[in-house]
Amino acid sequence: MQRNPGRRTFVLVSLLPLLLLLLLRCDEGTCIKWLALGRAIDGFEWSREACNGARTSGLLERKQARVCRTSPDVMRGLVQAARDTSAVCQQAFRHQRWNCSSIERAPDFTSELLSGTKEQAFVYAMSAAAAVWRLARGCALGSLAACSCATPPRREPPVPSALVQPSFSAAAAAMGFIGVGGSAARSSFKWGGCGDDVRSASRIAKRFLQGSSPAPGAGALAKFLHSVNMHNNRAGRRAVEQSLVLECKCHGVSGSCSVRTCWRGLGSSSPVAAGARLLRRYATAAEVRASSSGRLPPLYHHNNLLYTTKSPDYCLEDKRRGSLGTTGRQCNGSSAGYDGCEYLCCGRGHVTRAEEILERCECKYHNCCYVKCKTCRNVIVTHECN
Ligand SMILES: *[C@@H]1O[C@H](CO)[C@@H](O)[C@H](O)[C@H]1NC(C)=O
Ligand SMILES: *[C@@H]1O[C@H](CO)[C@@H](O)[C@H](O)[C@H]1NC(C)=O
Repeated sequence: MQRNPGRRTFVLVSLLPLLLLLLLRCDEGTCIKWLALGRAIDGFEWSREACNGARTSGLLERKQARVCRTSPDVMRGLVQAARDTSAVCQQAFRHQRWNCSSIERAPDFTSELLSGTKEQAFVYAMSAAAAVWRLARGCALGSLAACSCATPPRREPPVPSALVQPSFSAAAAAMGFIGVGGSAARSSFKWGGCGDDVRSASRIAKRFLQGSSPAPGAGALAKFLHSVNMHNNRAGRRAVEQSLVLECKCHGVSGSCSVRTCWRGLGSSSPVAAGARLLRRYATAAEVRASSSGRLPPLYHHNNLLYTTKSPDYCLEDKRRGSLGTTGRQCNGSSAGYDGCEYLCCGRGHVTRAEEILERCECKYHNCCYVKCKTCRNVIVTHECN
C-alpha cells in the first residue's frame, strides 16, 4: 500500500508538541521507570534488541537505552537495584501512612511519585543508592568491564590510635589488650585487598540515572524539576559513599596480626544501610521553590533530599494526588508512633478483632522416644483502620 508522504509530514508536525512533551517527561517519572526492570527474569540477556525494546515500551529513557546497548554488563546490577529499591522502600515505610506499595506499579506510577513530593525524592535517592551499591558489587566481582577494585586512597593509612574508638581503646587498654606503644598499636597497615570501587560505580550509575536533560527550549520549570531530581539522585549516590567502612585482614605468624592489609569496603552492609540513612534525610527533606533561572540555589547541602510539592496526608483515598488512604491498614493498638492506631487511622478509629488460634505447646519427651504436646489456645488481637 502506498502511503501519502504529504500526509505523513502533517502527522509528524502535529505530533511534534506531543513528542516534545514526552521527552520532557523524564522529570515526571521517566527517570525512574527503569524500576520496572526489577520484574525481568534472572539471567535475562540484554541484547541490542532487548535494550531498544525497553526503550520503545518506555521503561528506558533515551540515554538509559544507550547505556544498555553500549554496556549491557551493567544491566544485571541495575535489575537487582530495581528490586532492592522496591524492597527497601516498602520495608522502610511499612508502618507509615504512605507505605511505598505504589512503587510496585512501575512504570505506571501514581501521581505522588510524579509530582515532586518527598516520597518521590526518597525513591529517586534510594534507586540511585541501590544502583551504586549493586554496581560496586559488580566491580568487585569482576563482572563489569568498566571497573574492578578501587584504587587505594592516596593518603597514608590513618595511625591505629585514630582508628580505635575512644571508648574501645580505653576499655581495651584497661583489659591490657593494647598497651600504649604496645605491639598492636605499632602494627599499622598497608592499603591492599580489593576496595569497593564506589567512585566508578557512582560514575556509571550517574550516566544511567541522569537521563536526558530537558530539551534546550524547555521552560525554566522543567529545568528546575530536573535539577531537583538530579540532586536527589546525587544524595542517594553519596549515601553509599558514606557507607564505606575500613575493613582489614590480618597477616603474620599464627594470627599475630603483625601485618594488616586494609581497604575501604561496603562490608556486610546492603542497600538497606543506605536506605536507613536516606530515611533520616526524608524526615528532614527541604522544600525548594522554582527560581526564574531554573537553577537550584547553591546553599542546599548535597546530602539533603529536596522536594517541590507538599505531599497529601495520605489519610483518605485521593487518586488525583496518589493517595491510597489508610482504610483497612493494620495498626498497633499500643504504639504512640507512626504505626499507632491514632496516627495511622487519622482519627477515624479502628476495629479490633480477636482471633483464637490453636497451637501445640508444653511439649514433653516421654520415655525416650516420643513427644507429647498439649494444645493451647492463643488469642491474636489485630486492629484495622476504619
Ligand atoms: C500499604 O497500603 C495499602 C493502601 O492502604 C494497602 O492496600 C497495603 O496492604 C499496604 N501494604 C502493607 C504491606 O501494609
Ligand atoms: C506495638 O507497639 C509497641 C510499643 O511501641 C511495641 O512494643 C510492639 O512490639 C508493637 N507490636 C507490634 C505487633 O508491632
